[in-house]
Amino acid sequence: MERDSLMANRIIVMDLGGYGSHVAAREVRKLQVYSEIFPIQASLAEVLEEGARGVILTGKQDGNLAGREEVYSAVRKLLEAGIPVLAVGSGFDWLVERAEEQRAAGLVTVFPGGIESLAEPSGKEVLEDFVGSVCRCEPTWTMEAFVESSIQRIRSEVGSELVVCGLSGGVDSAVAAALVHQAVGSQLTCIFVDHGFMRKYEAETVADIFRRRFGKSFIAVDAKERFFAQVKGVTDPEEKRKRIGGEFIRVFEEEAAKLGKVRYLVQGTVYPDVVESGAGQGALVKSHHNVGGLPEKMDFRLLEPLRWLFKDEVRKVGQILGLPDELVWRQPFPGPGLAVRVIGEVTPAKVAVLQDADYILRDEIKKAGLERDIWQYFAVLTDTRAVGVQDQRRTYGYVLAIRAVNSVDGMTASWVQLPYHVLEKISSRIMGEVKEITRVVYDISSKPPATIEWE
Ligand code: XMP
Repeated sequence: MERDSLMANRIIVMDLGGYGSHVAAREVRKLQVYSEIFPIQASLAEVLEEGARGVILTGKQDGNLAGREEVYSAVRKLLEAGIPVLAVGSGFDWLVERAEEQRAAGLVTVFPGGIESLAEPSGKEVLEDFVGSVCRCEPTWTMEAFVESSIQRIRSEVGSELVVCGLSGGVDSAVAAALVHQAVGSQLTCIFVDHGFMRKYEAETVADIFRRRFGKSFIAVDAKERFFAQVKGVTDPEEKRKRIGGEFIRVFEEEAAKLGKVRYLVQGTVYPDVVESGAGQGALVKSHHNVGGLPEKMDFRLLEPLRWLFKDEVRKVGQILGLPDELVWRQPFPGPGLAVRVIGEVTPAKVAVLQDADYILRDEIKKAGLERDIWQYFAVLTDTRAVGVQDQRRTYGYVLAIRAVNSVDGMTASWVQLPYHVLEKISSRIMGEVKEITRVVYDISSKPPATIEWE
């Protein structure tokens, strides 16, 4: 899908490498101005060709990823094209001096604070001035406007064709489906594939919500056996993702074939997926199955109406469209589900163990009233075994890891300091109620350098 006129009024964040460029993009969006992240090498030509109201440089200004010459030459071309530049970070003074020396016409502003300080009052002020006064951006980026323009865009792209959507049970695919449903109504069929890697009771609950929302446009498929067969013997995480992603598409294709000539497939790809799959860092972090793991041969055209949105924006769109809170505020859940939370080979028995343990974890977090305070909390069934004692007998069971992280958009995350009494309750209940588990450990790794999921 193409960008639309709402996004023409945009600020580009040029990422010179390193984490943090998303902070700048999100802060700009809070000013109701659309903002995108690009790596400097790839974006210059596009920015010059398609235009931007301004450019924010972030990241390591003279690190390995881009030398000063390259940065300067890019800035100069931007200035020549009349695009103002804001450089964020310490150590950019040379850029201003160089621009003055060379009499490059145009404006370079330097904000010497770290990228995180763009979210603090002094940084906000600089940003507001840059975006509003220097770049003259209008505050047009609201989710209400986005919904309205998306509906028009989807209608004009889809015409009278049939559309199919794979619902994973997550917020993203549900919001994407609701948006497309609003645009094209019964031309859309939503397919919920139960791959068997959902959390305990989740498949039933989610299917109920969808049935109510989409009525006749909703189909549920029980494909557990097929998915388990796909991942049998597979231990490599990327390979798991690829196989699950591939099987998803095959299930869709089969179901869609029953509907007649379906032209489009809706996917709930969101902006962090796009950035992490290469647009921002230039390097693959993980191939999220809805971006990197699609099989090459696909009979559908992709419709990704949320590919420009951060998670908080997706939730807002969900609310505007009237989706129930339990869906809109559902914690992020990876497309391949528990398959990437069972480390090593995935079997129905291991998934059942993980489901039981994860259910207890969620129950205790809920009882502690922490549900809404934590971005993501889940259990991971490791492939490490540990000796335990149960009923006065020596046992040899699994080590289960508990993870709870806070994040704004999933791109960085910090581990949550869960109260000891909550951890204690979780651990004693899991070891008491799930006999296959003999040890529970708490993961105290933040992202970066760890990722949120273990695989
Ligand atoms: P990581 O583990 O990359 O996760 O730090 C960042 C966010 O993305 C979710 N995640 C996925 N979502 N398909 C998805 O749709 C995937 O394969 C996948 N892997 C990770 C993760 O739960 C977190 O919210």
